[in-house]
Amino acid sequence: MNTSAPKERGLDHTLAIMQEGYLFIQNRLDYFQSNIVETRLFGQKVICMSGAEAARIFYDSEKFKRQGAAPKRVQKTLFGVGAIQSMDGQVHRHRKVLFNALMTPTHQKQIAELTLHKWRQFLSERTNGGKVILFEEARKVLCEAACEWAGVPLKQKELPMRAKDFTDMVYAFGTVGPIHWRGRKARKRAEAWIKDIIRDVRKGRLQVPKESATHQMAFHQQLNGNPFDLNMAAIELINVLRPIVAISTFITFAALALYEHPHYIEKLRHGSEKDLENFSQEVRRYYPFAPFVGARVNRPFIWNDCKFSKGMLVLLDLYGTNHDTNLWEQPKKFYPERFDHMPKNAYHFMPQGGGDVEKGHRCPGEGITVEVIKASLSFLLHDIKYDIPKQDLRYKLNEIPTLPTSGFVMKLQKNEKL
Ligand code: HEM
Repeated sequence: MNTSAPKERGLDHTLAIMQEGYLFIQNRLDYFQSNIVETRLFGQKVICMSGAEAARIFYDSEKFKRQGAAPKRVQKTLFGVGAIQSMDGQVHRHRKVLFNALMTPTHQKQIAELTLHKWRQFLSERTNGGKVILFEEARKVLCEAACEWAGVPLKQKELPMRAKDFTDMVYAFGTVGPIHWRGRKARKRAEAWIKDIIRDVRKGRLQVPKESATHQMAFHQQLNGNPFDLNMAAIELINVLRPIVAISTFITFAALALYEHPHYIEKLRHGSEKDLENFSQEVRRYYPFAPFVGARVNRPFIWNDCKFSKGMLVLLDLYGTNHDTNLWEQPKKFYPERFDHMPKNAYHFMPQGGGDVEKGHRCPGEGITVEVIKASLSFLLHDIKYDIPKQDLRYKLNEIPTLPTSGFVMKLQKNEKL
């Protein structure tokens, strides 16, 4: 069945995603002067769309479902096979309650405090200064904080490997070749590790606090009354740990933002909590991380004169919507003050998905993400002195996900305390 959306000619454009990355959808929408376009990806017809109105439709769970939307290569690296991201209806909502309950403002505060504590510990071990790569240090700090908060025991000597495994899973999903296979291996290793921990908790060999994420995943009762099988308990616990570690990408971009816009350094040092919050939100809007989300049409409908037929794959452009000239004034400008007057709207600002976090698939970890960025910014602004040596700080928009090439090298000054 044809849609009447503008149609890109050609057999398949999957390779173009590798070439155009974050701009893949926007380039086509610009070309056709439309907010919706039909193309062919992964050997099938795919609708790509962008903007707040498209997001409102996309997050209507009557119209769209997630089952069968995420390719296996994404499940085997990023999400885990059969995790919450591919669920629908009542079973999804039941599982979402479990995740949302672990991410309340109290939890956000706990993780942010732990993060700041771990950053200070890192500094106390580096009194002689020297060069560090921020991305690599951030993932270790966050891995330690996440595991401690979640009740996952972690040996110091394992920390670099576990931290790297979590970010390797994230950096694998959009790639082919060695980086992709490294991500699959990282997931296998992490699942085996976390399965052992869940098993020990269930058998009473390891005691963890009842309210911890590990305990909750180990003893969660599904809608059918059964606990998770061991595999799923591990996958869903990793669904909490991995994304916390992934905030290291935003922390790296936050440091880049301070470097690219140095007039904010003094402003933030002497500013309010709201200034720090605005800056963190602008980091999430401006810099590229999650590119787009996918879903399949649940029941046929017509929107914007286009027929959406059952089963069709639809991609919603997150990066494009966060840079949409119809929604943002000067979207290509890094301007945290725009968040001073940002009206609450679930479909404009979507660095971690849109819609309703309770009922839909919107990321439950946004509060944690913002608080952890704020805590890390606060550390960079108040706790350390560093220089930025010459390095390649460019990031490529055609790599999904991306990062400044150097990972942000910092030369710490001796006795850095301000
Ligand atoms: C590092 C920054 C993060 C980014 C860029 C990010 C991005 C996203 C995106 C794009 C989605 C999918 C939204 C959709 O399908 O409509 C999502 C879902 C999810 N995120 Fe995040 N996220 C981040 C941090 C976190 C954190 C810190 C946590 C938990 C501690 C978390 C846990 C989840 C879970 C469990 C889902 C699945 C929700 C569902 O399917 O209902 N994320 N995230």
